[in-house]
Amino acid sequence: MHTRRSLRRVACKAQGVRTSGAEFNPLLMGAVEALFKFPPFFDAAKKNARSMIVKRYESLGGDWEGAMRDLQAQDWEARFKAVEDPAVTYPSYYTQPFHAYSKGNLCWEAALEVTMAAQSVHALVMDPRGKQLDPNGDARLRSSYSARIHENMAELGADRSGVRRIVDLGCASGLSSRELLRAFPGAEVTGVDLSPYFLAVGRYEQERREAAGGRPEALRWVHGAAESTGLAAGGADLVSMCLVAHELPVEATKAIMREAHRLLRPGGVMCIMEMNPASPVFQRIFSNPFAYTAFKSTEPWLQEYISLDMPGALREAGFAQVVTRESTPRHKTVTALKQ
Ligand SMILES: C[S@@+](CC[C@H](N)C(=O)[O-])C[C@H]1O[C@@H](n2cnc3c(N)ncnc32)[C@H](O)[C@@H]1O
Repeated sequence: MHTRRSLRRVACKAQGVRTSGAEFNPLLMGAVEALFKFPPFFDAAKKNARSMIVKRYESLGGDWEGAMRDLQAQDWEARFKAVEDPAVTYPSYYTQPFHAYSKGNLCWEAALEVTMAAQSVHALVMDPRGKQLDPNGDARLRSSYSARIHENMAELGADRSGVRRIVDLGCASGLSSRELLRAFPGAEVTGVDLSPYFLAVGRYEQERREAAGGRPEALRWVHGAAESTGLAAGGADLVSMCLVAHELPVEATKAIMREAHRLLRPGGVMCIMEMNPASPVFQRIFSNPFAYTAFKSTEPWLQEYISLDMPGALREAGFAQVVTRESTPRHKTVTALKQ
């Protein structure tokens, strides 16, 4: 009789798909993938995933439906027009379903839900077993990014007190941008994103914070591609890309690294926080073809991301030194110095 382990060994003898150490039988993966491409199955899986995210958010004490009702009552079209650059063109890798939204990042549903979805999805990230729910998981994930940036910069001998101008590539509605403002008080952050929907929601949330706090935030928004921001060369002390690379084909990530290198002054750093495919948590997912394919069905570029040699790509983009630290049991922070 075959055990699961022996079946896996048999599968690995076939010419398989590599996922950072794990290797799957292409027939098995093809079958699971075909299942996820079958619309009724995909729709059911999507519904299931979404209801799990909503339920988890509510079990953390949040009111998903109530928050959505309030958000949907806002005038989004005016905000959309204020942030949208109609000249922006969307790369084909971007205009496909992501995270179980059929229009990917180019729709209101994804943008209005993003803060709650982040709190729900990240509630488990600090627990190595992925079981213990933490209502502050998202905040901890982000503050661990800041802490690792500071440690990495210290190791690289980069000037941390001189960080004044930050660019946040793939900022969405600004969760990462706000963390950068917290990590570098006195700095100004320019958030760049391809989705005018996310930027409109980010601007709305910023207006509310500014009204509540009585002072403006040093955060501005640019609608555009991270590969070609149009921002001035050498004008940034720090460029961040937080939780974006797994949504990109490898060539796009490499183009963004080259753009970050162009944006930075000598002595500036590019910082990346991402899933860590080498972590035991991801290795567990990768060793289960069904879990892996389900994950991949909402992250179309996941397999490319896993194949990326991040330090190698950063060096290829011109960065002189690269250091990596673990941020959570499943995320890493990579920092690269421009000489
Ligand atoms: C998972 S979200 C991460 C958002 C945010 N940085 C955070 O930490 O929560 C990825 C974001 O990257 C944006 N994005 C993806 N590809 C992009 C590109 N080529 N240029 C600019 N933004 C991009 C998406 O629109 C989305 O808002």
